[in-house]
Amino acid sequence: MDQYKIGIVGLGVMGQNLALNMADNGFPVAGFDLDAGKNQAAAAKFAGREMTTASSLPGLAASLEVPRRILIMVPAGSPVDAVIRDLKPHLQPDDILLDGGNSFFRDTDRRGKELEAVGVRFIGMGVSGGEEGARRGPALMPGGQEEAYRLVEPALDAIAAKVDGQPCCGYIGRGGAGHYVKMVHNGIEYAIMQLLCEAYDLMKTGLGMGASEMRDVFEEWNAGPMNSYLLEITAAVLGKTDPETGQPMVDAILDRAGQKGTGKWTSQNALDLGVAIPTINAALEGRILSAVKDEREAAARILEGPDLRIEGDRRETIGLLRDAFQAATFTAYAQGFSLLREASREYGYGLHFDEIAKIWRGGCIIRAKILDRMRAAFAAQPEMVNLMTSGEFAPMVNELVPRLRTAAGMALEVGVPALGMCASLGYIDSYRSARLPQNLLQAQRDYFGAHKYERVDKPRGQQFHTEWLE
Ligand code: 6PG
Repeated sequence: MDQYKIGIVGLGVMGQNLALNMADNGFPVAGFDLDAGKNQAAAAKFAGREMTTASSLPGLAASLEVPRRILIMVPAGSPVDAVIRDLKPHLQPDDILLDGGNSFFRDTDRRGKELEAVGVRFIGMGVSGGEEGARRGPALMPGGQEEAYRLVEPALDAIAAKVDGQPCCGYIGRGGAGHYVKMVHNGIEYAIMQLLCEAYDLMKTGLGMGASEMRDVFEEWNAGPMNSYLLEITAAVLGKTDPETGQPMVDAILDRAGQKGTGKWTSQNALDLGVAIPTINAALEGRILSAVKDEREAAARILEGPDLRIEGDRRETIGLLRDAFQAATFTAYAQGFSLLREASREYGYGLHFDEIAKIWRGGCIIRAKILDRMRAAFAAQPEMVNLMTSGEFAPMVNELVPRLRTAAGMALEVGVPALGMCASLGYIDSYRSARLPQNLLQAQRDYFGAHKYERVDKPRGQQFHTEWLE
């Protein structure tokens, strides 16, 4: 084989698995990694297929069909810039570079412009699904130059996960739109993971349940309309035994969360755009608070709380937690989509929300049965401002919110931290309030800073000031 169809730079687990997936789908791949060890390991895995590893970047470029299609799978940040810099002299106009890492969307915007200036086409592509997804079918969120996307579309569709025969891949929008949508995906991912942790904590600490009992509960939840990947793996995690101690694996794991940054970017950007995503913010803060383990241990010896036990019928409480989790999770999707709506307007991405929901139905970490209904709801009502108020979902929200309210109240009462549940409830309560107390806040601002206010009985935009001091 002298001309390979796809080049992959970065042969870590994700790069290798995507390469194998491409080859399985009839696209011969040439790969390269700066690390000779990774190159060798990949070569061993690629043996016997229409795949090769190059020993240098120029060698990789020379082995590819023109225009070249090269997927970069290296850690986000400066490594991506370094690969582009080193590849550039070996590229020619019309070649296509794809960045499949979790790059910051503004970096993707910049890289796209820099490459466009030399005629090279650039696609920033969100890839979700972890190792297994990369190998068997990820969700793909490509953004950038649409005409370049059309040239790689067959390969991307072929390797993507499929739901009802449709690929979990589609053109997202201009510039860094693909990475932006992946960033928000991860924000929602953070929120759902936090909500699952809270349900787990309420069952473990509040109800005194063991890991295998909780596994059964999460499995049961997953068998119904809430079916999702994160529920599935939570049940699986709880069912795992630590080979060293013979105890549940989850109990052997230290309660300090890590993060690579995408969730934080989601919150930072939402603040910039003025969009409320409190459940996602709460999830981030849940991770931050978990990370200060030593401080918490010290505080636990000083600060007091109520008795952590939940009284009452256990089955009933579990049912309550199920409904609360469903309601709170739904608000996380609603917040994510409302952020996407504002970003699409602000950055001119031209996002299609039904298409995004369609892509997220399979392959990705936040895949869930309910995304199919979201897709249909957005298709029927593309201008919908918030999923919670849609004809499709408002009855469900109205039915479940009292349950969320009771569950959050229970968490508050027994002192089990429930940042995510409370944030979700606060989001719903604020959003459904035609009247909020910020009239008082406006008065305060005017009092100390003459910041002015609008009046209820005058047209919007007209500003007033009161001399508050006699
Ligand atoms: C995915 C994941 C993936 C990665 C996250 C983890 O969609 O496949 O989101 O991108 O696992 O970046 O992020 P944290 O390390 O921040 O939890």
